[in-house]
Amino acid sequence: MKISIFLLCVLSLLSCQSLTPTAPRPEKAEYSEDHIPLEKWGRSPNCCTAQGGKAAVASGGTYASQAGIEMLKSGGNVVDAAVATAFVLAVERPHSAGLGGGGFMTLYLKGKKPQSQFIDFRETAPEKAHRDMYLDKQGEVIPDLSVIGPLSVATPGFVPGLYEIHKKFGKLPWRKLLTPAVELAFRGFKIYPSLAAHIEEKKECLLKDPQATKILFRDKSPLKEGDTLVQLDLANTLRRIAQNGSKEFKTGKTAQEIVRYMQQNQGILSLNDLKNYRVKYRAPISGQFKGWEMISAPPPSAGGVLILQMLKVLEGFPLEEISQNTPQYTHLLSEVLKRAYADRSHFVGDPEFVQVDFSKLTSDKYIEAIRKNISLTKATPSSEIKGGQLMEDKTHTTHLSVIDTEGNAVASTLTINDIFGSCVVAPGTGIFLNDEMDDFSAKPGASNIYGLTGDKANEIQPLKRPASSMSPTILIKAGVPVLSVGAAGGSRITTSVFQVILNDLFVFPGDLKKAVFAPRLHQQWMPEFLDLEKSYTESTKTYLESIGEKTRLAPWSAITQAVHLESDGKVRAVFDPRDEGGASAY
Ligand code: DON
Repeated sequence: MKISIFLLCVLSLLSCQSLTPTAPRPEKAEYSEDHIPLEKWGRSPNCCTAQGGKAAVASGGTYASQAGIEMLKSGGNVVDAAVATAFVLAVERPHSAGLGGGGFMTLYLKGKKPQSQFIDFRETAPEKAHRDMYLDKQGEVIPDLSVIGPLSVATPGFVPGLYEIHKKFGKLPWRKLLTPAVELAFRGFKIYPSLAAHIEEKKECLLKDPQATKILFRDKSPLKEGDTLVQLDLANTLRRIAQNGSKEFKTGKTAQEIVRYMQQNQGILSLNDLKNYRVKYRAPISGQFKGWEMISAPPPSAGGVLILQMLKVLEGFPLEEISQNTPQYTHLLSEVLKRAYADRSHFVGDPEFVQVDFSKLTSDKYIEAIRKNISLTKATPSSEIKGGQLMEDKTHTTHLSVIDTEGNAVASTLTINDIFGSCVVAPGTGIFLNDEMDDFSAKPGASNIYGLTGDKANEIQPLKRPASSMSPTILIKAGVPVLSVGAAGGSRITTSVFQVILNDLFVFPGDLKKAVFAPRLHQQWMPEFLDLEKSYTESTKTYLESIGEKTRLAPWSAITQAVHLESDGKVRAVFDPRDEGGASAY
């Protein structure tokens, strides 16, 4: 250990010299759990986790995780569990993900060739989309056009994606997988605190749409916590999809209702778009970090590339000397994140439209250059790296993770982008349509709802997929998947998944609950803030400010879901206590 630190010091003189900072440095970063709203949710400190001998599911919904376990118990595999969980999430979290959206899935399946798979069923720009569609005559971005209403909707991929995934990798009949979702939509469920808060928060936009109003309001008043949410139109749509498969969403009644609505409301999404939607099979980003193999989301997601880059940069620092979770560690993470997000803004776009060799971003030479550029005693101003902007409270999108004890794992992140997507529901469908078009860059340097800026690589083009932060990730040791993790939270997804990986494997090894509960930081290069969750201590903040970090209280947090195969052979699921969720196991 000492020898390796010595070697590192020789190799990276700069970093090691800076291990003796001149600013006062508290020895340990203590933090409370103030950032976890256990009381608000009426949860006990033992909440949010489940352990089993055969398999475990963590997701953004209680019913959703239970549905996954139900499929496994009736002889299904991890993919059946994931698909059933995803459809229930569409009912239980209509503000986060669903039939009107899309997602990514990372798979590690024992005995399959290849074992690692990545399926991209992300929303796609309609045929009639064009580069300047959100700009006025002066070339300025028209506020909200890419966020609210029919023009913000990209072609959804959720139904074709999950249908194909099931056909290729699932075991149980398609209809069986959809049964729990159909039943929950018919029967309804009690509205939980964050769903009630989101309906209230988006009420202005939702009331503009008669169908959204019908679903979420009574006499123009938003449904409240404890009210029952029944979604009859959605239940019938799900039943048709159970019967007809993805055809229902390509040419069937559901497709026709969506297109009719678009035609009547100046939307551009057409039947051709729905009919020609293609699910993409891509090679996952894969790489090594301290003896672990990681597989994660490739472009159009920035997730996998950034997480791998960040892990590799960290590997070159004597982490053992910089006690974990000290102010110095916090600063180091911040510097690593800043540089990764600068790269995101510049390079990431749909790989079928942008010619970028992403492997360069994680090459040893480039990683070494990043390390040399980081000082452990001084924050680098973001202006010396490059530029963007930030935003307010957003917690939607959702994630599910499944691992069984046979060596299989799934990580899938699903979204309709903003809360309740575009606020548009086509009559008779019950489906909230996405506003994923906002994930494109409306023009170079203009920021989206997550404050992310983009360049040419992420400009709008017909049939292109917007850049994403979604990072469904699996960590593998000696051929066995040990951790499946992912998150919701816009630009914060990547930094949160990165921290849960670090926490679970190195900071609190094997203690997944601590790894998920621990406070997190976020830094996205521009604006320059280092966002800290509530529980970081004053002394940590004082130290960070003294070396030039611009800290602030994180305006919101990402929501992570994770499953870990423990050393005793059992699997543990943990859902993030920062929002509603479910952990189930058997
Ligand atoms: O693909 C993306 O990166 C975004 N559409 C994800 C949106 C999201 O996580 C919203 N949740 N806060």
